[in-house]
Amino acid sequence: MSLSRALVRLGYGTRKEVERLLADRRVTTATGVVLRERDLSAHADIRVDGAPLDPPPGAVLMLHKPHGYVCSTSDRPPLVYDLLPPRFLRRDPVMAPVGRLDAETTGLLLLTDDGPLNHQLTSPKWHLPKCYHVTLAEAVRGDEAERFASGTLMLSGETTPLRPARLEVCTPSEVRLTIHEGRYHQVRRMFAAVGNHVTALHRTGVGPLTLGELPRGAWRTLTDDEVTRLRDAVRAAKVAAKTAASTPAPDARGATDVSVS
Ligand code: URA
Repeated sequence: MSLSRALVRLGYGTRKEVERLLADRRVTTATGVVLRERDLSAHADIRVDGAPLDPPPGAVLMLHKPHGYVCSTSDRPPLVYDLLPPRFLRRDPVMAPVGRLDAETTGLLLLTDDGPLNHQLTSPKWHLPKCYHVTLAEAVRGDEAERFASGTLMLSGETTPLRPARLEVCTPSEVRLTIHEGRYHQVRRMFAAVGNHVTALHRTGVGPLTLGELPRGAWRTLTDDEVTRLRDAVRAAKVAAKTAASTPAPDARGATDVSVS
């Protein structure tokens, strides 16, 4: 692919704008050698106005989503894209959120321009564990962990019970919840189903990834090792889903949760 086409696909501008960037000698190697349309250079060695290029196609980002930001390309602002370089919305394919967090939910949000990977991470057929820190309006009663682990809890308006989920109590009104599916407003509705109310919801982990010390509003590109672990986790979730589909449904009383890696 030509340098200008690669820059257009990364969102650096229209074809005309990128041609102008090149003509203005703003695209260089790390050592300052000016690059032209037909020059070949390793992605990591290219600079625009002295800054390294955005990650190459197939990138996965982790964003620490703050409260109030919407996971959409075209909703009422503020959008999660306001926290990212504007080029990410212009990329082809676009850098898209992996699933959604409610505007009020904070924490770990993945984004990728790898459509097939995004599809695999959000497929309803299998699910990576997602871990949340939940603050509640009322102290827990004591039976919630058992009800969530039972595999029989029904959400209002739904016809299939929730898969077993694991609840760990941190303080009387703060818990850690790990779920293995992604239904609409799932965590908030789970607590509504047991007579409580979520006042704050923060996602701390998805599959093998945790938010760690990433500051609120900041983002980073996943390392190759993290992307490999994410892909491995999807493969394992697929195998687990296939095995579960070919095994008779367990007695709900004996259902157990799957531990988080
Ligand atoms: N469950 C919810 O209720 N909201 C989210 O944003 C994520 C999970």
